[in-house]
Amino acid sequence: MSKKKFEVGGVELDRPFKARRLNHFGINVEDSGQVMAWYRDVLGFKVTDIIHMRDDFHMPAEWFEGVPDHHAYFLRHNSDHHTFVIIPRAVMNRVEPPARPDITINQITWQVGSLREVVEARLWLESTGQKVNRYGRDPGSNWHTYFNEPTGHINELEYGIEQIGWNGLSKPAPLRPNLLEHPPLPTTSEGGEIVQAIADGVDLDAGHRWVENLPLTHDVGGVLLAQPFKAVRIGPVSIFVEDVEASERFYTETIGLKVSEETVVDGRRCVFLRANTEHHTIGLFPIELRAALGLSDHSTLLAFGVQLGSYQQLRDSIAFLQDKGAKLLDLPQEIHPGIDYTVHAVDPSGHLVQLYYYMEQIGWDGKPRPADQRLKVQPGVWPETVPGQEDTYGGETFWGPLG
Ligand SMILES: [Fe+2]
Repeated sequence: MSKKKFEVGGVELDRPFKARRLNHFGINVEDSGQVMAWYRDVLGFKVTDIIHMRDDFHMPAEWFEGVPDHHAYFLRHNSDHHTFVIIPRAVMNRVEPPARPDITINQITWQVGSLREVVEARLWLESTGQKVNRYGRDPGSNWHTYFNEPTGHINELEYGIEQIGWNGLSKPAPLRPNLLEHPPLPTTSEGGEIVQAIADGVDLDAGHRWVENLPLTHDVGGVLLAQPFKAVRIGPVSIFVEDVEASERFYTETIGLKVSEETVVDGRRCVFLRANTEHHTIGLFPIELRAALGLSDHSTLLAFGVQLGSYQQLRDSIAFLQDKGAKLLDLPQEIHPGIDYTVHAVDPSGHLVQLYYYMEQIGWDGKPRPADQRLKVQPGVWPETVPGQEDTYGGETFWGPLG
């Protein structure tokens, strides 16, 4: 790849954008409504928007034969319009047929710092021979550029995702047009778009409104929630890939992530990369490891990570998840360096969710904590309290009330 430097906000970088964090993630499932209900009621995600794929996107009726739920669900754990998306698999297989039948991930999305970065990323990707699948603006009103990594997982760069406030109301449809193009720059800000919408008589309250319908019985940090924990951050995304070296090149050279650590699991090399100060936000695992770990062959997703607000919450999640009938799995610690205590739960679609509370933080020198200085975790043993570490509760901070 070219050594040419690109100016990003006055700073010289190797590519015309900087991935700041994992912004959202999505999966394709057989029954989107059933899976949405689990992430909403068991994990505590909030439903921001519901799209009827056939009617809202004008898709052929035959694509929906035998599909139990025709909706795509946009969920969030914070004020971002969506941090997790659930889409009917049969429909996605028609819209964007995956490179492999076991790709059930519909997007791995990286937030960049400006609209200019999204647009210039697209031009740069095309200039390097990278195929760009599509670009424009989607529900959540974020501008984006979509392209695949070597195994075929769809990656997205986004800027400007809509923020949801205290009233749980999403933008009305006229304020979040689906576009298959990027605007000439500079363009109107969101504030400017709202001024125009008011002038046009748009009903600003016509979006979807989230309302909590579950009994609020669990004391989480002094407030009552429907679950004994609160998701405060998403990631890491752990994926099985066909060629770890090729995917490592993609995530370092194309996306610009940094390698934090490598491990060997069952004799096979695994690589962990970060976008910011978190130890890792994506983990790359050779596809051969899937069977060795005893995991389902229906998906290339090893696990979708969801960080909880505290160790206490993580500990309390175990009985809650079991009470809700979730199957919990024991997996080797080598698959999550930089994370100590963790719970792997199987969702109703057979995808794994990895809950944890501690994520090691990486500083300017890029060095992870030496393995012998990490907290020793005995699998299956949950002490009442754990010692604080230099980077406990470090990294990306959750804003706003817990619920
Ligand atoms: Fe997206």
